[in-house]
Amino acid sequence: MSTISTHNKPGTTMEPKHTPTRVTRVSGRKGGKKLGAGKGGFTAATADIHVLYQHSVQNVEAEIDFIDETFEAIRGRKGVSLREDFCGTGATACEWVRRRASNTAAGLDLDQPTLDWGAEHNVAPLSKDQQSRVVLHNRDVTRPGDATGMDIVLAMNFSYWILQERAQMVAYFRSVRDSLSDDGIFFLDFYGGHEAFQEMSEDRKIDEPDAEFTYVWDQHKYDPMSGRMQCYIHFEFLDGTKIKKAFSYEWRLWTLPEIREILDEAGFSNVTIYWEGADEEGDGNGEFEPVTEGEADPSFICYIAAEK
Ligand SMILES: C[S@@+](CC[C@H](N)C(=O)[O-])C[C@H]1O[C@@H](n2cnc3c(N)ncnc32)[C@H](O)[C@@H]1O
Repeated sequence: MSTISTHNKPGTTMEPKHTPTRVTRVSGRKGGKKLGAGKGGFTAATADIHVLYQHSVQNVEAEIDFIDETFEAIRGRKGVSLREDFCGTGATACEWVRRRASNTAAGLDLDQPTLDWGAEHNVAPLSKDQQSRVVLHNRDVTRPGDATGMDIVLAMNFSYWILQERAQMVAYFRSVRDSLSDDGIFFLDFYGGHEAFQEMSEDRKIDEPDAEFTYVWDQHKYDPMSGRMQCYIHFEFLDGTKIKKAFSYEWRLWTLPEIREILDEAGFSNVTIYWEGADEEGDGNGEFEPVTEGEADPSFICYIAAEK
């Protein structure tokens, strides 16, 4: 299986497991000591939240490694067409068309400004040939229109949790199943563990050659009655400035058995969970393997492959 060493999800509750070397508690910056903007020159006044998101949340190369290898392992052939649901800026769809000259991709999202940003910053830098093989649609994932016949459909970074009623999730999963080719596979990610249910906030220092800032995952409110949760992503900069609530998520915190049952109900023939392995210190090693039983980790991420 592929290695996903910096597979950073919005839910930082699981990030110590995933990104042990990159998790740094930030302290002592609140006293007003002004520092420079750091690598990348990020400040609240100058930073682009989509650039910050791509640095701190996404690792599209590792994600596509996993998808590509797992599809081939299950189906014995390479996937060709991929649909990225809830695509945002379409970064994953763009990575798919970069991979092979035969690959095609469609991204679906409802937010036109975000799609426009993706067209300018992710699609435009591709070669002309790659650009001709990716399309970003302003479209509801539950009404995919002609974006069907796909080898692969992705619902990543837990975006499908925006669907909060069981009936909505069943309808979405059925629609995805209908959108797949005869041997297509639906890939989702999932996070859980008891820390996922806590109202808590965690920060992680992003320190890359061209970027230095702090990402804050805020599990702000959780209602055990409805399962609804309100989460935010905030960004903090070395000069002391902040962007609060850069991204906001109103989700239902689903459990893994619920999602497995709904995939079954939607008609998927085989659902496999890929659990992350651990290194010597017990931290996640970024390698995901199929399992039939999980572990009672305080926080975990797993992948789900649901076969048509
Ligand atoms: C967390 S972002 C996901 C970004 C990206 N896919 C990723 O992996 O990080 C969630 C996106 O889902 C979009 N969205 C929410 N409901 C949607 C729907 N019903 N159909 C299409 N897009 C939707 C939002 O506009 C937002 O851009």
